Amino acid sequence: MAVSSAPGKVYLFGEHAVVYGEPAVPCAIEVRAQVGVEQRSDSKLRIHAEDLSLDGFTVEYGGTAGSPPDVDVSESLLTAAMGYVDVAIEHVRDVTGEEDVGFDVTIESDIPLGAGLGSSAAVVVAAIDAGTRELGTTLEIDELAERAYQTESAVQSGEASRADTFCSATGGAVRVEGDDCRTLDAPDLPIVVGFDGGAGDTGQLVAGVRSLREEYSFASDTVEAIGDIVRKGERALERGDIEELGRLMNFNHGLLGALGVSSRSLDSMVWAARNAGAHGAKLTGAGGGGCIVALDPSDETETALSYTPGCRDAFRAELAETGVRRLE
Ligand code: PMV
Repeated sequence: MAVSSAPGKVYLFGEHAVVYGEPAVPCAIEVRAQVGVEQRSDSKLRIHAEDLSLDGFTVEYGGTAGSPPDVDVSESLLTAAMGYVDVAIEHVRDVTGEEDVGFDVTIESDIPLGAGLGSSAAVVVAAIDAGTRELGTTLEIDELAERAYQTESAVQSGEASRADTFCSATGGAVRVEGDDCRTLDAPDLPIVVGFDGGAGDTGQLVAGVRSLREEYSFASDTVEAIGDIVRKGERALERGDIEELGRLMNFNHGLLGALGVSSRSLDSMVWAARNAGAHGAKLTGAGGGGCIVALDPSDETETALSYTPGCRDAFRAELAETGVRRLE
């Protein structure tokens, strides 16, 4: 069996706008998905998932496709989770040229599903890495990131940027603008995450912003304004200017609100963090529900979030310097 792990991420800046060619700056955090892949003697694919915000489920593909699994999660979320692994394994078969090989895949993830922390990207990166290594091929990080991006793009009907997958594969803070992906020098950031226990539907939220942009010129101006904030944010990151980073994160959250992707619980958590003295706070990822990211070196934000109605969990997250980790 080969086992790899890959980190989740928060967006410091630029989600949604990145879909329209503006730059984005995600940052990998030490919350990981671990995937074990073991070759089978037949050509079936069996996936077992622990945690993934689900109670754990097992599905067997190929030959004897059974009835849908009985789990307490929305059908679309489940289909998406399985779809990511399915396509990731197709890439493993393609890279290695072993078209008929079957696998047992075990996923253990500490990253809440669909909450803006890049759970699917982390699972896909770790699955492709472990799958190819199980068959004796170790991919370069760039090819791993590319294959992971192709996987997300296929599952999300083309509505995916390279941001999540590149960040999860390489680790650290990265800058993504179209096909151009690079790592940035980032100081140790005092990241605090608040989680409302919910999830947003990335495809639906991206489609919502797309139609808003088609109907109202303010929405395309807003996307461009987010791009300007990202460029300023990059420079603040390089200078290690945490106060300016926080201020820009606040602006970015306001603009995401204008695009209609925030929610009551995300806004409550953002305001709780700001009132507790955080340098800044914003939603992270597609929005609609899920997580916010705040910058606060003190314990105040974490404490305030833990008393905020609508916040299920608050935790400090270290920047993940390493992306994919090869464990076995
Ligand atoms: O919520 P997440 O982690 O899937 O992030 C989505 C980020 C978007 O910019 C909205 C879409 C994308 O693929 O970049």
